[in-house]
Amino acid sequence: MSGLPEPPQKGRTMLPSGTYVGKVVMVTGGGTGLGKAMATEFARLGATVAIASRSAEHRANGVRAVEEAGGRAVDVALDVRDAAQVAAAFDQITQAAGPVDVLINNAAGNFPIPAERLSPNGWKAVVDIVLTGAFLCSQEFARRCVARGAPGSILNILVTYIDGGAPGHSHSAAAKAGVASLTETLAVEWAPDGIRVNAISPGLFPHDDHTASMRANRPDGYEAEWNRIPALRVGRTHELGWLATYLCSPYAAYITGHTAVIDGGDRLRRSVRMPVFVPIRELIPETPR
Ligand code: HXC
Ligand code: NAP
Repeated sequence: MSGLPEPPQKGRTMLPSGTYVGKVVMVTGGGTGLGKAMATEFARLGATVAIASRSAEHRANGVRAVEEAGGRAVDVALDVRDAAQVAAAFDQITQAAGPVDVLINNAAGNFPIPAERLSPNGWKAVVDIVLTGAFLCSQEFARRCVARGAPGSILNILVTYIDGGAPGHSHSAAAKAGVASLTETLAVEWAPDGIRVNAISPGLFPHDDHTASMRANRPDGYEAEWNRIPALRVGRTHELGWLATYLCSPYAAYITGHTAVIDGGDRLRRSVRMPVFVPIRELIPETPR
């Protein structure tokens, strides 16, 4: 059995060449991992891509990836938890490249920890980045689209454990489920203004930028998880990038309030004989920093 086939090679596009020429795409957390992969695919289709996050080093990596794919990049320092910084980021992008046409709410915080050990500030850090950050960026984006009478597209990056929760990730699961709800609410509120709001719910997508604490939860590495997934492989970051470019494009003009799952069937995996139950506190080391 060889599982689901690999996607076409990285470097191809799934939309016509130049689909995003003249468009400005803002990717929060666009300097690492999935954000960088999505930024790359928008750039390949001609977009100007704003890489918005806290670390200058991360942003420089995102800028390099966009430029290597043939796009123009804007480097924007941003902590999505701060409304004033969010407004300033949109101002900076508008000045440098023009108004933002597509917003990707990809920035996230996460670390594995049993709920009873999570501090109030740890809870707040993750919920503020994931849920409040997505709301603040979406609100600023929509206000500006409405003011100039222009359509727009928002894409929220969720995770498959929005359904069923995630032991060891109470903060992230609750916050991402909140963003799933926002996706549906804002899609309805803003459709009359020409703004679409969709989401992608990814399964496992290994990349080189995973944080140390996330890696600590998977001592054998993310690639080693392939045989736990019905597809018998993990996701490739460029295939997620293709899905993002489609959902934000004019070819998806009638799609809004939708969450597209891309997980090789992982979330549906059930067995008539489930594995022995192990409490989460026995699976997560005491000091996972
Ligand atoms: C326990 C931790 C912790 C850890 C931080 N904290 N890391 N507690 N275990 N590993 C606690 C701190 O002690 C502090 O609480 C509080 O969280 C805030 O920590 P700061 O470092 O001050 O916060 P900040 O600088 O704002 O950083 C936010 C962060 C950090 C979330 C904590 O990890 C971060 O910036 N992460 C960004 C990248 C990331 O997390 N990527 C993962 C996305 S992957 P106290 O009480 O001490 O003050 C994902 C889905 C993966 O989401 C799904 C895979 C299948
Ligand atoms: P990652 O590499 O750790 O990316 C997280 C990004 O968020 C970083 O670039 C970080 O940049 C940015 N960020 C964090 N806090 C921020 C803040 N306060 N303000 C602005 N930017 C901030 O993780 P990833 O795996 O690529 O994950 C990307 C998205 O996919 C996340 O939403 C995640 O939940 C989701 N996801 C990932 C997987 C997977 O398998 N990889 C699976 C499901 C869902 P700075 O440090 O520079 O701020």
